[in-house]
Amino acid sequence: MSDRRVAVVTAGAGAGIGSAVVRHLADDGFDVVVTDAHERRCREYADRLSADFERPFAAFVCDVTEATQVEVVMSSVAERYGRLDVLVNNAGWSKIEPVAEMAVETWRRCIEVDLTGTFLCMRYALPFMIEQQSGCIVNISSIAAWEMTAEHGAAYSAAKAGVLALTRVAAAENGRHGVRVNAVAPGLIYNEFLRRIYPDSFFEGYAQDRSKLGRVGQPQDVASLVSFLASDAAGYITGEVYGVSGGVAPRG
Ligand SMILES: NC(=O)c1ccc[n+]([C@@H]2O[C@H](COP(=O)([O-])OP(=O)(O)OC[C@H]3O[C@@H](n4cnc5c(N)ncnc54)[C@H](O)[C@@H]3O)[C@@H](O)[C@H]2O)c1
Repeated sequence: MSDRRVAVVTAGAGAGIGSAVVRHLADDGFDVVVTDAHERRCREYADRLSADFERPFAAFVCDVTEATQVEVVMSSVAERYGRLDVLVNNAGWSKIEPVAEMAVETWRRCIEVDLTGTFLCMRYALPFMIEQQSGCIVNISSIAAWEMTAEHGAAYSAAKAGVLALTRVAAAENGRHGVRVNAVAPGLIYNEFLRRIYPDSFFEGYAQDRSKLGRVGQPQDVASLVSFLASDAAGYITGEVYGVSGGVAPRG
């Protein structure tokens, strides 16, 4: 069995939250398993981490909507390391279309990646965590789950709200097995790919007028919270959701 705690991060090789979470957990001393649907980026990022930290990091190509791939990743991790301590469900997808014009495929894809993908990873990670009687899951939701706005699209908002419900039920079911399940809900966490999803008007004046802290969020802002939730210092925290939005949309 690995001496280090083992963390699996989905969509961990992008330009945003996932890769920052991977690096932060690596800094915390975890053996982090980088998973992503994008094969080349996934392998390159694991190689870069292996060089930077001078210890091996594993890469597993995994599209979270593919149940078989998810099952293989979780069982391979359990087999290779003999443990699975932390799962961070970071994979997300969105396309903004009004309900009255939304392609059915947009709705289905969004629910499939954001909600079903999160379920599948939990479904295949939890049995190992239950067996070892410890574990921690952090699901990346969004303030879109409770904001009353047309900005994010209904499919994304509904999927991310579903992630919160999934989080609470899984927390209720698994606390007695020593497994904690929490959610993090970011506001705008800037990365260049968001420009493809949101119109320019979404970004204009965001830091000055909407953020209460005068800036947009950075992936590191979310990674710091995930790191805390994954640590023993958060040992009495489960079934909760924490916003990271610079005060844009706090929960009442
Ligand atoms: N960026 C934001 O402003 C923001 C705000 C709120 C919530 N979130 C949520 O945070 C998470 C990370 O978002 P991000 O913008 O930081 O991007 P990111 O860079 O962390 O993730 C992008 C990566 O996701 C991978 N990916 C896409 N579909 C996948 C799938 N089906 N299976 C596995 N990997 C897949 C891509 O290959 C890419 O590498 C998402 O769940 C997103 O909904 C982001």
